[in-house]
Amino acid sequence: MLELGGDTSGHDWWHVHRVTEMAKTIAAKENADIFICELAALLHDVADEKLNQDEITGVNKVKNWLDENGVDDKSTKHVLEIITTISFKGGTQKKKMSTLEGQVVQDADRLDAMGAIGISRVMCYSGFKGRPIHHPDMKPRDNLTLEEYRSGNDTAIMHFYEKLLKLKDSMNTNVGRDLANGRHEFLETYLEQFYAEWDATR
Ligand code: ADP
Ligand code: NI
Repeated sequence: MLELGGDTSGHDWWHVHRVTEMAKTIAAKENADIFICELAALLHDVADEKLNQDEITGVNKVKNWLDENGVDDKSTKHVLEIITTISFKGGTQKKKMSTLEGQVVQDADRLDAMGAIGISRVMCYSGFKGRPIHHPDMKPRDNLTLEEYRSGNDTAIMHFYEKLLKLKDSMNTNVGRDLANGRHEFLETYLEQFYAEWDATR
């Protein structure tokens, strides 16, 4: 928790808290192992390559923490497997989560990038990186490599097309998909209003 407490890049403690609550809710409805989902959700961002020297350092940090806290080997292996395959990475991460628990936590993480909260996080992240909200000449890019996705030549609105609006079709569970549909509709309503205001028509 202390690891992410003061983060302002969209990986703060409240993100972790929301993802954990959502993972528990989905897990209960999908009959997944709630303990594994809760633990993986709580730890899912600690090993993020963007917040560590490299991925291996981050993964070792989590492994040590699980060892110190007496989590058994099988659960440790499962949690590490989940947190190393969960990230969106500009859509370049194509591997499907191999266990139901991984699918649940990934759905919970993706839901937090959608809807009203998802929009708030995009605006925060963009501001944190010093990027503009919108530029009419800058169009969303297709088939981004991870380097292009992380390069920073984008606007907050472009990120809706490069990530947020794609998430609905990448959900793993039925419960996650239902929630994603509602949050997706909200994103579309927001964009419609955004452009209308941009063009001074509403
Ligand atoms: P990713 O694996 O895509 O980097 P994260 O979960 O680490 O995803 O991203 C954290 C939050 O920051 C998410 O809400 C995501 O939508 C947002 N975000 C990531 N990249 C950008 C960007 N280029 N512009 C605006 N927001 C971004
Ligand atoms: Ni996350």
